[in-house]
Amino acid sequence: MNNTPEPLLTVRNVTMTFPSRRRRAAPVRAVDDISFEVAAGETLGLVGESGCGKSTTGRMIVRLLEPTTGAITYGGRDISHLGQRELRPLRRDLQMVFQDPHSSLNPRQTVARIISDPLLVQGSSAAEARKRATELMELVGLIPEHIDRYPHEFSGGQAQRIGIARALATGPRLVVADEPVSALDVSVQAQIVNLMQRLQRELSLAYLFIAHDLSVVKRACDRVAVMYLGRIVEIGRKEQVYAAPAHPYTRALLSAVPLPDPAAERTRERITLLGDPPSPAAPPPGCAFHPRCPKAQQICRTEAPLLRVTGPWEERQVACHFPEAA
Ligand SMILES: Nc1ncnc2c1ncn2[C@@H]1O[C@H](COP(=O)(O)OP(=O)(O)OP(=O)(O)O)[C@@H](O)[C@H]1O
Ligand code: SF4
Ligand SMILES: [Mg+2]
Repeated sequence: MNNTPEPLLTVRNVTMTFPSRRRRAAPVRAVDDISFEVAAGETLGLVGESGCGKSTTGRMIVRLLEPTTGAITYGGRDISHLGQRELRPLRRDLQMVFQDPHSSLNPRQTVARIISDPLLVQGSSAAEARKRATELMELVGLIPEHIDRYPHEFSGGQAQRIGIARALATGPRLVVADEPVSALDVSVQAQIVNLMQRLQRELSLAYLFIAHDLSVVKRACDRVAVMYLGRIVEIGRKEQVYAAPAHPYTRALLSAVPLPDPAAERTRERITLLGDPPSPAAPPPGCAFHPRCPKAQQICRTEAPLLRVTGPWEERQVACHFPEAA
């Protein structure tokens, strides 16, 4: 008997094509045929360089964007093309935390208003919403008496706590956190990650945790997916991907992560990637990573590798013709 619970979220062959911002230029395939699942209560890390399609993926999941093709299923229901009215009850369950806390909070609104707004939209009374906002302030480690202050009166870390409280107001089951600590001081980053982990345990939240480097998500995630130019190139359980990265791109990203042990740090292999990622408006043929890959061979220039199980673990998949052996 298969006891695996139905995943909370399923992304199947999802593609997002934007018309180009420049006249007569080719459309941009920001996300290209990606598939993954998120189980209730787990954290999936989504990692890759700037422009690889992480935010677009997150925004499709919370349905701020409508996918061009493919299916996004939440709780067994296809939500890919629901209209605004049908999406309204779902907005309670699917929430987002943004990268820059100060620019994602309205500077002219008090914290009370910012956190209450999603509740008022869902039909709470003003008094109920304010009471709940006060509880949320406490839950995220802010002083409830500061509820009538404005965002600029808070530090970056505190402002991100407000962003998290706003996301939690409606009692979501899945939170897409789009680089939630990238704009914060290093000393504050760990506090916010700790807070997110505590909230996950207390509220049984699932996270899609977006970051551009593998060090940020290492502690927080259960599984990790690595994206390159709109595609997932490696996905697996954290232990598998960090201990035995099989895709040359994952290896390069990991080689940039400093090691805590000074002896290991001195001998750490460093792989420098040549050049910048190509434009998704004109992806290279074959494996899109081939112009930068130290292992590229002839077949890589013509044939795109499929994502498939690689190594001893069923959950770990890699898209590479010459993956590193575990
Ligand atoms: N609305 C849009 N119209 C046209 N192109 C877009 C739009 N939104 C994103 N793109 C393009 O899609 C690609 C993926 O963008 P996205 O923001 O998802 O990347 P990202 O991985 O989140 O990058 P970053 O790390 O910089 O946040 C980029 O080439 C971007 O320029
Ligand atoms: S398929 Fe070829 S070019 Fe692409 S990552 Fe693997 S070895 Fe490198
Ligand atoms: Mg982004």
